[in-house]
Amino acid sequence: MDWKDKVIFLTGASSGIGEALAIELAKRGAILGLLARRPELLERVRCECERTGGTALSIVCDVTDHARIIAAANKLRKEFGHIDILVANAGIGGNDEETRGLDPVAVKRVIDINLLGAVNAIHAVLPEMLERGSGHLVGISSLAGSRGLPKSAAYSASKAGLNAYFESVRLDIQDKGVAVTIIQPGFIKTPLTAVRANKMPFLMDLEDAIPLIINAIEKKKKFASFPWQLSAIVGVGRLMPAWMYDRIAGHARYRE
Ligand SMILES: NC(=O)c1ccc[n+]([C@@H]2O[C@H](COP(=O)([O-])OP(=O)(O)OC[C@H]3O[C@@H](n4cnc5c(N)ncnc54)[C@H](OP(=O)(O)O)[C@@H]3O)[C@@H](O)[C@H]2O)c1
Repeated sequence: MDWKDKVIFLTGASSGIGEALAIELAKRGAILGLLARRPELLERVRCECERTGGTALSIVCDVTDHARIIAAANKLRKEFGHIDILVANAGIGGNDEETRGLDPVAVKRVIDINLLGAVNAIHAVLPEMLERGSGHLVGISSLAGSRGLPKSAAYSASKAGLNAYFESVRLDIQDKGVAVTIIQPGFIKTPLTAVRANKMPFLMDLEDAIPLIINAIEKKKKFASFPWQLSAIVGVGRLMPAWMYDRIAGHARYRE
């Protein structure tokens, strides 16, 4: 796939996966609309994208703000004509005590960002993609969305919801020229996982994860999950009866 001049609407571009993906796509000549809340970090990523050969626009935006995200998509379209690919990547881990303690306000925050933020982003780009009969929606979900996990109710629910939402949208728009890809990583070294004390099996470096994400987008895969070892374990977990799953997963020392 030729990324040159492809227009990408990328949420959560100020750090971690979003930052690394932006820079890698910029190297391939893509045009990037970079969204996140922290202006200084976003500006740093924008400069790096431009330095490596891409074109980038930084747009400070909270994905929970529907009006702002619509305005951001309009800004990108005004500048570059249309949007080819949405990467709905913005997310938080919900690793704080309030969220783990199931405080409804804290849980709502995780769902608002991880799930409804992606809903907002899809709403901002999809109508124009359908009108053109061309486009690609990419959701950065997680293997944590496959089944419930200990101490992860909010995060796991947000990613399970994201999987179901993207898949449902895919059913609604099939044969209309817009592809839908759901990406389910395991653990990747980013600021999100840096704060975790627990063991993270098969923890990946960003340099290993980004090519897998790009490959899934290029091939327009419906689902992509990695690393394969954790993906296989989660796949077996999905098939387990609840009594067995509760005994095994309930004792696992990892989450997300
Ligand atoms: N790292 C992993 O192991 C892993 C595994 C599976 C899935 N994921 C998913 O991958 C995505 C990226 O995570 P990461 O690991 O790269 O974490 P990260 O480094 O913390 O990056 C999260 C990004 O999301 C942005 N963001 C958070 N809340 C936002 C909001 N309300 N509005 C706009 N942007 C917001 C952050 O920017 P600002 O704070 O500047 O807004 C930041 O750019 C998340 O959806 C995460 O769930 C990560």
